[in-house]
Amino acid sequence: MPRISRRDLLGSGLALSTSSLMARTAWARTAALFSGPQDSAPGAATAAGASIPPREQFLLDFGWKFMFGHGSDPARDLGFGKSQDDFAKTGDFKFAKVKYDDSKWRALNLPHDWAVELPFVRDDALQSHGYKPLGRRYPETSVGWYRKEFEIPASDAGRRVSIEFDGAFRDVLLFVNGCFIGRNDNGYAPFRFDITDFLVVGAKNCIVARVDASFGDGWFYEGAGIYRHVWLTKTDALHLARWESTVRPEATDGKAVNLQLAAVVVNQGKNFETAAVSWQILDAAGKTVATAKAPVQTVNIDEQVRFAASAQLGDPALWSVDEPNLYSAIVTVETNGKPRDGERVSFGVRFLRFEAEHGFFLNEKPLKIQGTCNHQDHAGVGAAVPDRLQAFRVGVLQQMGCNAIRTSHNMPTPELVQACDRMGMMMMCETRQMSSNPEGMAQLETMIKRYRNSPSIIMWSIGNEEGHLQNDMAEQGAKIAATMVRRCHELDPTRVVSAAVNGDNSKGVSEAFDIIGFNYNLKFPDAFHKQHPTVPVYGSETASTITQRGVYRTDPLRNTLGAYDYPQNHTEWSENTEEWWKFYGTREWLAGGFAWTGFDYRGEPTPYGWPSINSNFGIVDTCGFPKDNFFYYKAWWTKQPVLHLFPHWNWEGREGDEIPVWVYSNLDEVELLLNGKSLGRQKVPHLGHVEWKVRFEPGTITAHGWKDGKLALTEERTTTGPAVALRLAADRTEINGDGEDLSVLTVSAVDSQGRAVPTADVLVDFKVTGEGALIGVGNGDPNCQESDKEPRRSLFSGLAQAIVQATKTAGTIEIVAEANVWPVNLAPAKIAITTTKVELRPEA
Ligand code: GAL
Repeated sequence: MPRISRRDLLGSGLALSTSSLMARTAWARTAALFSGPQDSAPGAATAAGASIPPREQFLLDFGWKFMFGHGSDPARDLGFGKSQDDFAKTGDFKFAKVKYDDSKWRALNLPHDWAVELPFVRDDALQSHGYKPLGRRYPETSVGWYRKEFEIPASDAGRRVSIEFDGAFRDVLLFVNGCFIGRNDNGYAPFRFDITDFLVVGAKNCIVARVDASFGDGWFYEGAGIYRHVWLTKTDALHLARWESTVRPEATDGKAVNLQLAAVVVNQGKNFETAAVSWQILDAAGKTVATAKAPVQTVNIDEQVRFAASAQLGDPALWSVDEPNLYSAIVTVETNGKPRDGERVSFGVRFLRFEAEHGFFLNEKPLKIQGTCNHQDHAGVGAAVPDRLQAFRVGVLQQMGCNAIRTSHNMPTPELVQACDRMGMMMMCETRQMSSNPEGMAQLETMIKRYRNSPSIIMWSIGNEEGHLQNDMAEQGAKIAATMVRRCHELDPTRVVSAAVNGDNSKGVSEAFDIIGFNYNLKFPDAFHKQHPTVPVYGSETASTITQRGVYRTDPLRNTLGAYDYPQNHTEWSENTEEWWKFYGTREWLAGGFAWTGFDYRGEPTPYGWPSINSNFGIVDTCGFPKDNFFYYKAWWTKQPVLHLFPHWNWEGREGDEIPVWVYSNLDEVELLLNGKSLGRQKVPHLGHVEWKVRFEPGTITAHGWKDGKLALTEERTTTGPAVALRLAADRTEINGDGEDLSVLTVSAVDSQGRAVPTADVLVDFKVTGEGALIGVGNGDPNCQESDKEPRRSLFSGLAQAIVQATKTAGTIEIVAEANVWPVNLAPAKIAITTTKVELRPEA
């Protein structure tokens, strides 16, 4: 929460380092870093469909119309609410009928976040959400209408048709063919309606969603609109109930595991049915490795019946962070040998244990949780993150050795969970509302049912920093949390339940948890452990370091923060990078922890305010470009040899000034040289860093890293000349031509010798032609208010990002980057991306 203002920070004597260093980052390896994360399913469309015939699932993302409504004026809100008659008669909503004229509405595809398209407004009340004009005081930009027409063929007669939103922000009223269908009142949980009765088969149908972002759920940027996928599912009247198919691996004495299988069958037909449910277990190569059948049962009209069976899996390939082996179960419902419905459930076999004395174990091996908390927005696209970008983000975090994501502070989108399952990233999966009221319980139940088969999820979190429920309402807090935890255990007896607590965990909600999470407050865990020696403990939220990529000077007048991990470079309530990891990394009994945050995010521009518009907490910026801290984690969280030298060496005009030079390394010793002269060799302290003060002279600083007496790595930073040309690099140059896949481009500037210029800040224009479109730009600068949607962006500390998405036609996308607005005139850069023909996901 934003607890300290800039004034507080300065007044409290906590002023951040005001060293006069004017600097930008050491980042020469950045381009190489972004060679692209390793994902076994890199394209969006390759994600295996979950429906098995005769069930069909259609993506409902394409071909929508959009217009702004109005939060208080019915005349600008399609007349909605003009009289009080709106809901009087079923079928009265004209805007949701096929004949309605939407020709003036804007055409767009989902996922869509209109907040990221809005300008920034200087309004202190909007600070935590990132200064976008949303809320009841901004009625003209807080309500959006989405409209789409689609065919339902005559052959669908007798089938059940449901529409499912993976999540929308925030209050949704849904209409089909003039009829009101239902509402949703939170920004993160998926919601689904059976719309069969309202459809006309063999004709066009119309769906309309009024999305109202006047209220928020959190204290961070949350976006606005239908920012996740929408699906249309068609099933037989006899079908599997949603999110009731479970696969639960249980250990046996031997090498095999028992799979406890369950599913629920619903009969919405006109006759009772005698149904059989069977399971076919497939390994990652698609080979059947086990089968099971449940005893046949009668399912009466309007009844739901649970089916269960078990299967043995001999010597399974376990899921782990290094080898994320997945299996799938094909669940089929049959009557008289005829398949009526089916779905594919992805799962993994892995065993989790939290021990009070020895921390966390995955598959019986101790594993420190090297986690990061993350919000869900990315540069350029806001909350509407395409599937491929989810995998990109997971890959960035993995490169620094992060092995777990806390989905702070809300239920994640399915594609993030799938990416974590595929890529071996563990998750602490968190619900938004800590409450045992109907809405809170519904959100929690949906989260657990939706994701309980996912091997990446190692624990559920029922909330974050509920001050009242921890303190002045501790009595109610204990009861609320107990009700929530009990429900978690009922729905999923395999995982521990916790929450992120800012306090000593002595009362209130904490009484209910299986394992205890501390937010910050390094003073508490040791005492807690002494008093409760049988309760496992981890750091649910740590660090909150505040740094900016490539900036080496903290200047409150300019809202800048240096990238050194100085003791001052964190908030009043938190700790710096080395401090928290030395604490959690060296106590065997602690299971590890989650740093706040992996990625920077919009909103919470702590410690400053306007004109800063996004956080400074990230270990990488909003684009995923690493700050220097990234390499601290990489050094101590991975086994790869690391030698990271910073800052850059472009200090024109600062000749003779002392520049702090730091090295992050996990080698034994580091020697620093300035223009070939040794400045000494230092031992690298465990979980620490080495540093020198160096009087600037142009040229090269070099770090030699020694391991076991041998020179292992060398890094250097050289004073570059001025930028003369741009350079473009893509994370992938071949992507799927499916209308969803994308390439993440890095643009930088180089001097006459081809060396990246770390201080370049030129404005770059992008031209994208061919089978693709630019969907967003960013540069990671928390103080940059340039549009994320315009085809131009300034470099920040030498870098910017452009995200290019394929059309559905195979071909080539050409991207040209130019910086030639007078007086700048750099040689342009070009890159081509090939888009290949792939099978498209079925669409409605
Ligand atoms: C925490 C809170 C986070 C974020 C962070 C900033 O207390 O849980 O959501 O606000 O502070 O340091």
